Order: sequence, then structure tokens, then C-alpha cells
Amino acid sequence: MEKKISPSLMCCDFFEMGKQLSAFEKEKIEYLHVDVMDGVFVPNYTLGTDFIKQVKKNCSIPVDIHLMIENPEEKLDWFCFGEGDIVSIHYESTNNLNIALKKIKDRGAKAFVAIKPVTDFSVFSDVLDLIDGVLVMTVNPGFAGQKLVEGSIEKIEKTRRFLDEKNYQNIEIEVDGNVSFANARLMSDAGANIFVAGTSSVFCGNLSEGIATLREAIK
Ligand code: DX5
Ligand code: ZN
Repeated sequence: MEKKISPSLMCCDFFEMGKQLSAFEKEKIEYLHVDVMDGVFVPNYTLGTDFIKQVKKNCSIPVDIHLMIENPEEKLDWFCFGEGDIVSIHYESTNNLNIALKKIKDRGAKAFVAIKPVTDFSVFSDVLDLIDGVLVMTVNPGFAGQKLVEGSIEKIEKTRRFLDEKNYQNIEIEVDGNVSFANARLMSDAGANIFVAGTSSVFCGNLSEGIATLREAIK
């Protein structure tokens, strides 16, 4: 499966945002990861609806919206997304998973189910026909700069095997949290193909150099 990079915009230098987005376009970055937190599902607030609108207006790269909010199915209409974008909703955040996923797909976007480190990888087995990908959190959602949760690489491996055995080879695996250059290589070997790049990789030095090193690691 094609390997893709999705830089986490919460790690951007907001006062250099324009330059950083241009650098991502120049480097042919596949997605822009946007973390949305509501202070309830996770103990933090981050980016929101107006931010996404601005990004979509000023940059041609598809967005990869990671909703860490309660009952996302009631709030999807607030967000600007469409064809080619990814929207991830958390398994743990709703009792109406299938309704939320259908709403995303009806707007032409790719629907992903995100799971926290404590959540079993097989929970999405009932919605395999509705999803384009799974987002395996490899740190607890809420903050950048954390350490990889133990067992994460094995979880990615098990998830890939589970999907392949059920004949869903086309379902993508995105990984989010402490995707350092070294961890990215292990995650890639374990079967992940979309890599959220934060403070552990592209935002820890020169952007273009970081992207090149990460591309090499996930080859
Ligand atoms: C949370 C975020 C973070 C973060 C990733 O959903 O997506 O995981 O920005 O970057 P790191 O973990 O490298 O700081
Ligand atoms: Zn995220």
C-alpha cells in the first residue's frame, strides 16, 4: 500500500503557518492532520472549524481531520470537508458509530475509525464495509510529545493481520503518536501506511530534511 505522511498541524509554528504549508505542498505531502479536541473526550482543546476552513482555503493538500469529541455524528455538519479528505471518529466517542461513518461517506470523504491504546483492535469488525481506514493511536489522545505506549507495534501488526484475514486489504492503517523516525520504520514494517508526523519527527528540526528522513524510514 502507498505510504503517506500527514503532518500534525497542532505542532506547527502558527506564526509561520503560511510558509510551513507551502513547504508541505512543495514536498508533496499527502495529508494535513488536524486534531480537534473538545475538552470532554480528551482533557485539552486544540483546533476547530474556522481553522479547518482557513487551511482548506489556503492550501490544496487534503485534510485528515481527527475528531476527539463526544458524539461526533451530531457535529459533523459544522466541519468543512469533502471528496479526498479523511475524517476519523473515535470508537469510544459515540453509540452511533455507523450513523457517523455514513454521514462522512455521504459527503465523499474517507471514513476512518480511531481507537485509543486501551481499545481492542477488533472493535471495528462490525463496520468494515463502512470504513476506509483505522487510526491506531500509539499514545493516549490529547497531547503532542508523549512516549509510545508499550505494545503499540504489536497492535499494528495484529490489526493488519486481522484486516487481511477478513479480506479487507484495502483498509488503510494510520498511526498517530510518537511517530519518530525509528518508530516509523517499525510501524511501517508492522503494516501501517499513513504516518502522523509531529514533534517526534518533522517538527523537531528543519521541515524538509525531516520529511526526507521520514520518507526514507517508511519506504
Ligand atoms: C494527537 C496528535 C499528537 C501529535 C503527534 O492526536 O496527533 O499525537 O501531534 O505528534 P508527536 O507525538 O510526535 O508529538
Ligand atoms: Zn491526531
